[in-house]
Amino acid sequence: MFYSESRIFKNEEMLSHDYLPELLPHRENQIKQIANNILPASKGRQPQNTFLFGSPGIGKTASVKYIFREFENSSGAKTVYVNCWDYKTATAVLSKIVIDLGYPIQRRGWGKDEIFNRLKEVLNKLNKGLIICLDEIDQLEQEALYDLLRLDVDIPLGLVAISNNQFVFADAEPRIRSSLAMDEVEFKPYTLMEMKDVLQERVKHSIISVEDGVVLLAANQAVQKGGDVRIGLQCLLKAGRVAEQENSNKLEVEHMRKVLKEVKEVKPEILKEKINDGEKIILEILNGGKKQQSGELYKEYCRLVKDPVSDRLFREYINHLAEVNLVKINKRKLHGSVRIISKV
Ligand SMILES: Nc1ncnc2c1ncn2[C@@H]1O[C@H](COP(=O)(O)OP(=O)(O)OP(=O)(O)O)[C@@H](O)[C@H]1O
Ligand SMILES: [Mg+2]
Repeated sequence: MFYSESRIFKNEEMLSHDYLPELLPHRENQIKQIANNILPASKGRQPQNTFLFGSPGIGKTASVKYIFREFENSSGAKTVYVNCWDYKTATAVLSKIVIDLGYPIQRRGWGKDEIFNRLKEVLNKLNKGLIICLDEIDQLEQEALYDLLRLDVDIPLGLVAISNNQFVFADAEPRIRSSLAMDEVEFKPYTLMEMKDVLQERVKHSIISVEDGVVLLAANQAVQKGGDVRIGLQCLLKAGRVAEQENSNKLEVEHMRKVLKEVKEVKPEILKEKINDGEKIILEILNGGKKQQSGELYKEYCRLVKDPVSDRLFREYINHLAEVNLVKINKRKLHGSVRIISKV
């Protein structure tokens, strides 16, 4: 026999970070708020645009996909999910929506106005409400939002935007901001006990037998290393593989201990992609591991780059790095308040 059934995993793929679980513990309130906001779309009324923000790996995307799945099943309104990392321009986003609604278009050769008009036509034929999720909306060019807002169609149309950055709309044109009129939904990091429940729920469906303490160890690692659930999932997957190699029929604390050192952060390359060049330089300065006072850090940054950004924008960079968990900010009271920045 080339392969035998695993004695550890019953559904290994349920530990994958792409897997959308049947239950999302501790996100009930957020899910309710988002669902209530978009529900009018399925009754022919205008939905409330909604903005979700919070640090990486705490269920923002999963919550929206969960709600969209329910909506599609009950067929009250149509939903389209767009990750703006993959569709950054107005043309790309508008075409993606047309295609997802089942109307093929040739991406090449069509100008933006044609795609815009095509989308309008398609929407007016839809005969039901539409909710569009723009995930990682900080990656989207502003023009795309402007286009979506001026669609002016006969059906109820709502937007759900997601970002790590709470202030992503702060620099948007005031007329865009006011027509968006977003209801904000904050996602706070899970506490240790919440993280344990979240992982426990995933383990229940994916691993046959687990020793007490294993899930708590994985949850602790995830919380200590920035709060990303994906870290916990990775720990469980790796520990499960170790258990298999050791021919065990149970995932034990010993197996988990062996992998904890390896699993420190999730997809650092993805986190790094989310940051701009200025932010990358800040990280390089902090790479030596020492803590820096924000004023000193700014001076060092100005020394290294040709066109340094303003003091104010620099602060935004630091805040953004903190939001994606790449730096830590500690406030210290000396003369006034001083911010001490260090790498996570
Ligand atoms: N409450 C939960 N229950 C079960 N799984 C969860 C829960 N919260 C998050 N997860 C899982 O954690 C992983 C990361 O969640 P998700 O992709 O939603 O994060 P995110 O907040 O969108 O992060 P990012 O800002 O990096 O995009 C996914 O596999 C998701 O299914
Ligand atoms: Mg996400």
